Amino acid sequence: MNRVNPVGPRVKRRSPDQKGIHDIRPLADPEFDGIWESLILPPGLKNRLLAQAVLNFTARAKLQQVFLPLHGIILLVGLPGTGKTSLARGLASRAAASLGGNFMFLEVDPHALASASLGKSQQAVTHLLGSVIGEEASTGPCIVLLDEVETLAADRRKMSMDANPIDVHRATDAVLTQLDQLAANNTQLLFIATSNFAGAIDDAFLSRADLVVTIDLPSPEACQAILLDTLGRIAQVYPKVARLRTDPLIDKAAARAVGLDGRRIRKAVLASLAHTKQIAVNPETLTAQAVLQAVEQAQAERANLEANP
Ligand SMILES: Nc1ncnc2c1ncn2[C@@H]1O[C@H](COP(=O)(O)OP(=O)(O)O)[C@@H](O)[C@H]1O
Ligand SMILES: [Mg+2]
Repeated sequence: MNRVNPVGPRVKRRSPDQKGIHDIRPLADPEFDGIWESLILPPGLKNRLLAQAVLNFTARAKLQQVFLPLHGIILLVGLPGTGKTSLARGLASRAAASLGGNFMFLEVDPHALASASLGKSQQAVTHLLGSVIGEEASTGPCIVLLDEVETLAADRRKMSMDANPIDVHRATDAVLTQLDQLAANNTQLLFIATSNFAGAIDDAFLSRADLVVTIDLPSPEACQAILLDTLGRIAQVYPKVARLRTDPLIDKAAARAVGLDGRRIRKAVLASLAHTKQIAVNPETLTAQAVLQAVEQAQAERANLEANP
C-alpha cells in the first residue's frame, strides 16, 4: 500500500467539508479518550472491542479473504442513549493509540444520505464510500464511524412501497458492494457501525460484520456509577456538589434510575440543576432530593413515551 502522502503530513489534511463526512480528525484524540474513560460498561466489553479493532489492523492483511473473511466491520447495536456513538469514537482512539501510527478518523453523517435524498442516494453512497473513504484509506490507516447505519444499509424488506423501494434497494446494494471492495482493497481500514434498530439492518450487512456487540441498558451498578460520575463532573465546576455523592437519597435516585439509558441518567442530573430557580442561580445548592425528583421525572417521561410511541 502506498503510504506516501504527497500533500504533506496527514494531520494537516482537509476539514470536514466533504458532503456526508461529519467529522475528520487524526487519532489518537484526547477528547475521544476522555469519552472512552467516562463510559461505564460491563466488565470486559471494552477490552473485547479493542482486541477486535487491533486484530483488524494486525492480521487482516495477512489473512486470505476467501477462507478467512474479515470485513473490517464492528457493529454496535442497542437502544438510543446507551453510549454506542461515544463508544465507537473512544474505541477508534484507543485502537489507534494501541497500534501507533498515522491514523485518521472519519465520521459519516447518516442524514446526508437519508431518505430526503433517496433519489440520489445510490450515487451519493458510491461517491462517499468509494471515493472519499477509499482515498483516505489508501493513504494510511483509517477508522470510519458509520453512525446509525440502518439509514445507510436499510433493510429492503422492511421499507414500505411509497419510500422509493427501488432506490432503497439500489442504495443498499451500493453500500454492500462498496464495503466489500473497500475491505478487499484496504486492509488498513476499519468501519465501526452503530445502530439503534438491529431489526432494520439488512441481513447481508449483518453477516459482514466481524463482531456484533449489543449494548444493553446500564445495570443497577452502572446506573449508580453514571449518576455519581455526572455529579462528580458537576462538582468539578461547583465543588460543594461533591457532598451529595455520599447522600443516601442519591443511592435511592440511582436505584430509581434503573431502566433509563445512560444519556437520560446524565440529563436527569443536569435537569436537577434547574429544579428550582435558586439552584439554577447557585448550582452549589443542589440537593439530593432534587436529583431524585429529576430521576423520577425522567422515568415518568420514559413511561409516557413507551405508552405513546
Ligand atoms: N454506559 C454509559 N456510561 C456512561 N455514560 C453513558 C453511558 N451510556 C450513555 N452515556 C452517556 O449518554 C450520552 C449519549 O451517548 P451516545 O453515545 O450518544 O448514545 P447512543 O449513540 O447509543 O445513542 C453520552 O453523553 C454518554 O456519555
Ligand atoms: Mg448514537
